[in-house]
Amino acid sequence: MFHGDCLRYLEQIPDNSVDALITDPPYSSGGLYMGTRQQPPSAKYLQSGGCNLYPEFTGDQRDQRSHLRWCVLWLTEAFRVLKSGAPVCLFSDWRQLPLTTDALQAAGFTWRGIAVWDKTEGVRPQLGRFRAQAEYIVWGSKGAMPLNRRAPALPGVVREPVRRKDKFHITGKPVALMQAIVKICEPGGLILDPFAGSGSTLVAAKLEGYRWLASEALQHNVQVASERVNSVSAAAHVDLP
Ligand SMILES: C[S@@+](CC[C@H](N)C(=O)[O-])C[C@H]1O[C@@H](n2cnc3c(N)ncnc32)[C@H](O)[C@@H]1O
Repeated sequence: MFHGDCLRYLEQIPDNSVDALITDPPYSSGGLYMGTRQQPPSAKYLQSGGCNLYPEFTGDQRDQRSHLRWCVLWLTEAFRVLKSGAPVCLFSDWRQLPLTTDALQAAGFTWRGIAVWDKTEGVRPQLGRFRAQAEYIVWGSKGAMPLNRRAPALPGVVREPVRRKDKFHITGKPVALMQAIVKICEPGGLILDPFAGSGSTLVAAKLEGYRWLASEALQHNVQVASERVNSVSAAAHVDLP
């Protein structure tokens, strides 16, 4: 795993060499106003029991305009390194959903839909309001996506709670959720995650028999992700009929 800025990493990857982009970038979300968005992630994203269990992370303080510009920058590089027809999946919350679909298309990808991560009723209830129970997976492809790709039918909603024993980052995603999503990639393919965090995508990729490439800005997360990936065994690669 590359330790550093994803833009520096992406520029080292050859054109048309990666089979899928699956990533959970910083959302630069967590508030309607600049002042609230610029708080550290630990203040913006509620942690279980209200205590600080995980270290801060970086890149989450841009305002809408600069966040969009930055997303287009790295997505444009990702577009270059993906093979033609390769799928892309980007996590987003409700605030950044319009920006994410704009950035995806501005970088050249074809936007194909939105899948839902249902975090279940485990998330905090709010009197008189809807629970913030969902995050979104904006997905698309680099150009045409043949119907005969060797990938299974995938669920439009993945229902998976966040469990303490499976969470190693403020915004860590459950491995079971990522196992459902990585299957958009053809069997044994090479998955790119430029924002690896604690490595949930990479663990899921390994468990499902994929290869991966990843970058992460913070040394602590590189360490956590590497330990997690090394602690699981790769699935024997099974080809679809
Ligand atoms: C939303 S988190 C990913 C969490 C991950 N999905 C998990 O389950 O642990 C985004 C990560 O991107 C990293 N990051 C932010 N800006 C970056 C950059 N320019 N290059 C590489 N990594 C970056 C942050 O340090 C953070 O760990």
